[in-house]
Amino acid sequence: MVMTALKEEKMNKIKDEVRNCKKCELWKTRNNPVIGKGNLNAKLMFIGEAPGYHEDIKGEPFVGRAGKIFDELLESLGLKREDIYIANILKCRPPNNRNPLESEIKMCALYLDKQISIIRPKIIVTLGSFASAYILEKFGLKRQKISEMHGRMFNVSNLLGIEKIISMYHPAVATYNPNMKGVLLRDFKSIDVV
Ligand code: URA
Ligand code: SF4
Repeated sequence: MVMTALKEEKMNKIKDEVRNCKKCELWKTRNNPVIGKGNLNAKLMFIGEAPGYHEDIKGEPFVGRAGKIFDELLESLGLKREDIYIANILKCRPPNNRNPLESEIKMCALYLDKQISIIRPKIIVTLGSFASAYILEKFGLKRQKISEMHGRMFNVSNLLGIEKIISMYHPAVATYNPNMKGVLLRDFKSIDVV
C-alpha cells in the first residue's frame, strides 16, 4: 500500500494549498472549501460543478439534495461512495450557487488537474455542463451540447491511463424535474464499470 500512502500525501498537499488559496474571490464568502472525497485508487472519478449550501457547511462534496440523487444513481450500479472518487471544478461555493465564472474555472481547475493525475481513474464521469466542457477540452474532445452527448462514452488516450470520458446531466436536474431521474439512471447504466 505504498502507492496509496504516496497518493494520500499528495492529496493532503492539495488540501493545504486549497485551504490557503486566494486565487479568486470565492474564498472570501465560502465557509469551507470542498476538496473531494473517496477512494484514491478509484477506477471511476466523478466531477461536479461547485459546492452548494450544504457542501459549504460540511466541507464535503454532494451531501445535499443533489447528493441524495447521486447516491441513488451510484447504488443503481452497485457502488458506494468508498468505491469512487468525487470532486468539483470549483472548490469554494459561489454566492447563491451562481454559475462558475470562466476566470474562476481557469484559476481553480489546476487543483482538479492535480487530483486527476493522483487518482488516475480509468473512467471520468462529468456531472453537468461546466464539468463536461472543461474535461472534454482538457482531453482534446469536441465540445457538444449536453443534451446531445449525455450518456455517451468517448475513448481517450493519454499518459495518465484514462480511457473513457462520459458526460451526464447534473443530478440536481432531477430535484426540479422528476422526469430527469429516468434519464440519469439510463445514462448511469451505460457506465462501463470495471
Ligand atoms: N453540486 C455540485 O456540483 N457539487 C457538489 O458538491 C454539490 C452540488
Ligand atoms: Fe482558490 Fe478555487 Fe477557492 Fe477560488 S474557488 S479561492 S481558485 S480554491
